Amino acid sequence: VRVFVPCDTTALSLGADAVARRLEREAESRGLALTVVRNGSRGLAWLEPLVEVETPAGRVAFGPVTPGDVPALLDAGLLEGRDTHPLALGPTKAIPYLERQQRLTFARIGVTDPLSIADYLAHDGFRGLEAALTREPQDIVEEVKASGLRGRGGAAFPTGIKWQTVLDAPADQKYIVCNADEGDSGTFADRLAMECDPYMLIEGMAIAGLAVNATQGYIYLRSEYPLAKRILDAAIVRAEAAGYLGDDIRGSGRAFHLEVRLGAGAYICGEETSLLESLEGKRGLVRFKPPLPAIEGLFGRPTVVNNVLSLAAVPFILAEGAEAYAGHGMGRSRGTLALQLAGNVKRGGLVELSFGTTLRTLMEEFGGGTASGRPLRAVQVGGPLCAYLPESQWDMPLDYETFAEVGAGVGHGGVVMFDDSVDMAEQARFSMEFCKVESCGKCTPCRIGSTRGVEVIDRIRAGRDRDANLALLGELCETMEDGSLCAMGGMTPFPVQSALKHFPDDFQRAPEGDR
Ligand code: NAI
Ligand code: SF4
Repeated sequence: VRVFVPCDTTALSLGADAVARRLEREAESRGLALTVVRNGSRGLAWLEPLVEVETPAGRVAFGPVTPGDVPALLDAGLLEGRDTHPLALGPTKAIPYLERQQRLTFARIGVTDPLSIADYLAHDGFRGLEAALTREPQDIVEEVKASGLRGRGGAAFPTGIKWQTVLDAPADQKYIVCNADEGDSGTFADRLAMECDPYMLIEGMAIAGLAVNATQGYIYLRSEYPLAKRILDAAIVRAEAAGYLGDDIRGSGRAFHLEVRLGAGAYICGEETSLLESLEGKRGLVRFKPPLPAIEGLFGRPTVVNNVLSLAAVPFILAEGAEAYAGHGMGRSRGTLALQLAGNVKRGGLVELSFGTTLRTLMEEFGGGTASGRPLRAVQVGGPLCAYLPESQWDMPLDYETFAEVGAGVGHGGVVMFDDSVDMAEQARFSMEFCKVESCGKCTPCRIGSTRGVEVIDRIRAGRDRDANLALLGELCETMEDGSLCAMGGMTPFPVQSALKHFPDDFQRAPEGDR
């Protein structure tokens, strides 16, 4: 009997290794024929470690499992998939949180052993690359354009148009760079993709290489993801050995090489130009644009810089056709969005859905409300540079344009929930402080503005000259928005302004000592 115990960072941090060992020990002492398979995570974080058993009727789930639960689970018929134990969840596919998703990009996570090429091939792996090998570069670019895929890192620029710019730029060497510096608060979808389905990213990057005639790719990975580094490194070696990377991909005569490079812990290195500086071995300072990286990128050469999830969506598009992807979504937001439920949430995890769902559906039906059990009050979607949304905005459809209309962002899909104990003035201060700590220092509005922003908010919270300081904060936000070189300083005002607009009472509270 095959028993699956996940091996991604979330499951490991919750004791998955100990569960796997206990299963093996118990099986040995009871003389049971049991094979433990280390799969990726299904992304149902609150159920980890989620143990699954293969039965003739499909996989059956149990969770969250501790090592101490193992003997009783075996007694209760774990290996037969019997659902008599309190941790039994029934058929994995039928878990509502999973069943109600539209998993296109994340279809394989948790199903396969991340490093098994056989598993990957058995689940549609490398079909997109095989298709791309039979097509001209322009043809591949057209397919990606037709899919409507837009950059999943946050800026939502059409991926096919970016690729076209690089394809059209004449050069002896071009590069594909994957931005895997996932730094937004509450986000973990890039990590799940890399740890649980690494060949998908490798395949997406190889297709991008074929599309724009680039022969070298780099994954710029945040240093906080050591497990993803080990998995990607091992997957690259195996993909090379199997002929999916290297000088002659599957006998086509086309070449693509791939390497992982580690960042050093700076949020700003997720900005594409400072990422390129860092990749070149320099300090991560933001570059002026233009020139765009698509024209003069890594080492001055035309470079595709795409987020993990943009590249990970590409194998599906090439394998199934642009229409299969574009058939999901609404308006100009095509395909699916990987939402990540975090913060004060009962059921945190990955929720891949077609664009058009609402925050209320996501937070209540999937998330199950707050972990504290208190009423929800605010939600920050898209990371520390995006707005806080009050309840009046939880019913609008999740798509790039609708969110932009109200000054909010979808960003990288992180959804951080707060209950009614949150102090939004403190959150506004946090936004400015985050910018102060993470600013690269190149331009004045961001470098100095964020420091002054913290001071002004401190004065407001202390009740000193409130009206004058609130007006000053408004002006400071305008200056940062208009005068900053990149999104770090330019977008920090968004969470601050949204807190001021939607939660004004929090800025009028009596100072702590006076309460
Ligand atoms: P941007 O709007 O300047 O550029 C978007 C992308 O399109 C860039 O890659 C740019 O080089 C490219 N581009 C623009 N015109 C092009 C053309 N004609 N041809 C080819 N390529 C072209 O946005 P930026 O400053 O790169 O990113 C800001 C976004 O990053 C924000 O929306 C924010 O949500 C997001 N962000 C994401 C984070 C994460 O951890 N994933 C962290 C912080 C911010
Ligand atoms: Fe650097 Fe901030 Fe200016 Fe961006 S806005 S270039 S992070 S100082």
